[in-house]
Amino acid sequence: MKKFKRTLVTCALPYANGPIHIGHLAGVYVPADIYVSYLRLKGSDVKWICGSDEHGVPITIKARQEGVSPQDVVDKYHRIIKDSFSRFGISFDIYSRTTSPVHYETASAFFRKLYDNNEFIEKTTGQLYDEEAKQFLADRYVTGTCPHCGNEKAYGDQCEKCGSSLNATDLINPRSAISGSVPVMRDTKHWYLPLDKYEPFLRKWILDEHKEWKINVSGQCKSWLDQGLQPRAVSRDLNWGVPLPVDGNEGKVLYVWFDAPIGYISATRELTPDWEKYWKDPETRLIHFIGKDNIVFHCIIFPAMLKAEGSYILPDNVPANEFLNLEGDKISTSRNWAVWLHEYLADFPDKEDVLRYVLTANMPETKDNDFTWKDFQARNNNELVAILGNFINRALVLTMKYTNGKVPVAGELNDFDRLTIAGMGEIKEKMEDAIENFRFRDALKEFMNLARLGNKYLADTEPWILIKTDPARVNTILYIALQITANLALASEPFLPFSSRKIRQFLNFDLFNWADIGRSDLLKPGHQINDPELLFEKIEDDAIEAQVNKLLATRQANEKPKAAPQKDIISFDDFTKLDIRTGTILEAEKVPKTTKLLKLKIDTGIDVRTVVSGIAEYFTPEQVIGRQVSILVNLEPRKIKNIDSQGMILMAEDSNGELVFVQPEKVTVNGSLIK
Ligand code: 2FM
Ligand code: ZN
Repeated sequence: MKKFKRTLVTCALPYANGPIHIGHLAGVYVPADIYVSYLRLKGSDVKWICGSDEHGVPITIKARQEGVSPQDVVDKYHRIIKDSFSRFGISFDIYSRTTSPVHYETASAFFRKLYDNNEFIEKTTGQLYDEEAKQFLADRYVTGTCPHCGNEKAYGDQCEKCGSSLNATDLINPRSAISGSVPVMRDTKHWYLPLDKYEPFLRKWILDEHKEWKINVSGQCKSWLDQGLQPRAVSRDLNWGVPLPVDGNEGKVLYVWFDAPIGYISATRELTPDWEKYWKDPETRLIHFIGKDNIVFHCIIFPAMLKAEGSYILPDNVPANEFLNLEGDKISTSRNWAVWLHEYLADFPDKEDVLRYVLTANMPETKDNDFTWKDFQARNNNELVAILGNFINRALVLTMKYTNGKVPVAGELNDFDRLTIAGMGEIKEKMEDAIENFRFRDALKEFMNLARLGNKYLADTEPWILIKTDPARVNTILYIALQITANLALASEPFLPFSSRKIRQFLNFDLFNWADIGRSDLLKPGHQINDPELLFEKIEDDAIEAQVNKLLATRQANEKPKAAPQKDIISFDDFTKLDIRTGTILEAEKVPKTTKLLKLKIDTGIDVRTVVSGIAEYFTPEQVIGRQVSILVNLEPRKIKNIDSQGMILMAEDSNGELVFVQPEKVTVNGSLIK
């Protein structure tokens, strides 16, 4: 394996359109935190970069929904995300944001270099345009049916069901996410990165030179490459993003997936004047931690961009995880189906490590996994409390009791003592192998085996019995139990940093280097330890029920029919153009050869006129004759089934999708204006 001098770790920049949830944590940030913390403990030169992804359509959609500006949205969520990461102990070297001036400068210069070197193809093509909203529909502004898997809710940039990356124009039956209308095609000019040109290089680099990549990652890449790469637009018609650094750039910005990964570079620049060492020296090992939906962007598109630019290194590995589900359902920000980090921190103060532990134990490394509150409780009570907490507490309490909290002098070691000490070294090696190969669940299992080793040691040596007959042997036993505790303090740092700190406080010890794991002389005889407290507490049923009930309430809220979103604002003048009046239905008959239409004769107060109405599925002619209704009388007349229809009856749709009349509260003179 190639030797590197330093490591640069990046984590997917979360979109600043919502808070962080357990899916983000288990997929990306917890594994990266374990990895970086391990490298730091080894004394490696490592920098860890992250920040908020503040551009792109998800942000502008959120701003529209909340009736605020995109800047307001990103300011709000950047703060929430940054704060919750920091309280959870996620220890980035920098958490920046893509609205920072350094980022604008870096991303523009990157684009400009490729532009000046003629790396882009300039093309004018038809793009989807919403005539009602008067806007081009980039990416998530369009939904429709995925041409690959038939998912009817695919987005214009990606199908979340089958993971395909799409162009908005690929969608079948596209609809605007802004107005719901059917978009039209309109010409616009964009800049494309010719991914096809990089295909041979990418194939060799990924499939031949990086056979060690995780199978879920190389598998997705292979399927991309086998489908054939197409030039991909890197500009968008939007007014939120990094302005396109070319002449005539009015209303055009960089595509968010062009600017976001450059955010890793910008944040490194912001972190250190030495940033080029981390991005341009081939002796730097670049690792991207991401979720599976980001694989194509980090393994194909960003590497092609870096290659086109020419002066940057490429990632050495992209250990992408699959998804974490919640209680059997896909986590979803829009459906509020998530355990939000900031809410967890408020509901479970001082239990950061419990969540870290459960997310690592269930990390979706090779397949999607499920988080359940019952499992959370069981892992806390049966593993953290009963195995790890129990050992540490016993070792410390026995020391307080038998030696007044002083590390005793060990006598001669027997075979079992030596075997136990050797066991620590073996576990260390297994943990290293697992962490270095991104198998964090295995690493955590090995860590827990260290606690199990301690429990077994105490259970087999029984110092509480020997104390009556052989206090010298008890000294040896406690000495070894305390060395195991010190080893646990070290080895827990990547997985359970808050608990690691607590154990070190109990032990009054701060020697800190991964290489020391396995040693049996970390605490010297005579060293005074502090009064211990419990490391973990049992989580009771009521705390779990409260969380389960919260999710049930969300599920119920999601099942309630949703009101259609508000349409675009109109002026009062627009409203007064509508001539809506009361009128009475005088005659009604079914329109022959149709199932839905009734032909109505209506007294509008102005005249008696014919209106064709699509209500025959809900009402018979007899049921409507004599009813007073609301009618829009100045609607442009239309021919329906060869009948001149002169107006429209106002109907409301109830929760079953059935139509009901909008009637005046009491009968009025026909022709009364509704205003
Ligand atoms: O999927 C996401 O949440 C994106 N915001 C990830 C961006 S990663 C990077 F390239 F910035
Ligand atoms: Zn699909």
